[in-house]
Amino acid sequence: MSDPAPFPASHSFVQPARPPLTLVRGEGASLWDAGGRRFVDLGASHGVGNLGVSHPEVVRAVQRQAAELLFLGSGYDVPVRTEFLARLTALLPSGLDRVFLSNSGTEAVEAAIKFARAATGRPKVVAAMRGFHGRTYGALSATWRKEFREGFEPLVPGFVHVPFNDVAALREAIDETTALVLLEPVQGEGGVHVADREFLEEARRRTQAKGALLAFDEVQTGLGRTGRLFAFERWGIEPDLLTLAKSLAGGVPIGATVTTADVQRRFHSTHHSTFGGSPLACAAGVAALEVTVRDRLADRAERLGTQARDRLARLPPEKVREVRGLGLLIGIELRERAAPYLARLEEKGFLAISAGPTVLRLIPPLVIPEEDLSAGLAAIEEVIGRG
Ligand SMILES: Cc1ncc(COP(=O)(O)O)c(C=O)c1O
Repeated sequence: MSDPAPFPASHSFVQPARPPLTLVRGEGASLWDAGGRRFVDLGASHGVGNLGVSHPEVVRAVQRQAAELLFLGSGYDVPVRTEFLARLTALLPSGLDRVFLSNSGTEAVEAAIKFARAATGRPKVVAAMRGFHGRTYGALSATWRKEFREGFEPLVPGFVHVPFNDVAALREAIDETTALVLLEPVQGEGGVHVADREFLEEARRRTQAKGALLAFDEVQTGLGRTGRLFAFERWGIEPDLLTLAKSLAGGVPIGATVTTADVQRRFHSTHHSTFGGSPLACAAGVAALEVTVRDRLADRAERLGTQARDRLARLPPEKVREVRGLGLLIGIELRERAAPYLARLEEKGFLAISAGPTVLRLIPPLVIPEEDLSAGLAAIEEVIGRG
């Protein structure tokens, strides 16, 4: 066992490289510490904060709902849940209209795996190398990186991984025993890698041919992040299952596994979550969807993301291997470790995150003021420039 963290990590079982900042307040893409110092948020809490930390419309909806009906068992109908589900499914292709609500991304993925195995009666799940799908046992078994998996074996049997964007390997892996192919359209934690059209097309074609199901994990890419409301829209390829979480309820815990009537009809088992679909999360979700659509945040992500990547493409090649991404999900792959650069950005008042050891990830709130994003890019140019 490694030594305990040199400082208390309280609620977290991730050992941070250095003591975390203490932040006490936020608004949009601004965060403040107790001393009143402002930081620009370029990490959006790993994608939860598409609308910023405390969007006023989400806050109002939560306050109203908490006073009215904070929680009610899922055995009862609640108007706000019906409204949330209607709004969500109205944004999706017509076939994707069955939704299971839970409380996190990993639960949304867990449900997708269970639905696929139960509906097909098959064991095999095909996922991608470098993929990240969460940390509960099913989702973890689909997750690739050794450091997330080690210490927890044996994981769930039946999972195989193919190299991301390797069409031939994908075709080979999908056979008559395959229940599910589970892919992120843009791999987030794995280093910000965008799927090739041919890879996703092959996933769709081959799953259909072999009677398997296709799931897109849009826990990180969904809700406008990649310049489309859902990343799969860019390729026009519809999955049988779609997993959402993070920003879906504007910062209130939620997970959603969306699927088709056909998958639901073939599912003869049971799955349930006590807290899933709580009135509070649904009220927050209604407000978050309203803002996301009304304020055209996907278009904003597309425009600002394209500008940012064009600008970042001019970073010195002796420091930067590649700049990748879609919309406001951007990875800057450095030729060395990202952590020291993140520390220097923090000193300058800009909070970005990593995606693996050498990738600096920019995933700011989609509402970030243009001048804050521009200042963030200038700070990146400065720290990478002087490396
Ligand atoms: C693509 C993807 N799937 C699943 C998860 C797990 O979500 P959660 O941390 O809410 O369980 C994440 C989290 O980063 C993710 O990026």
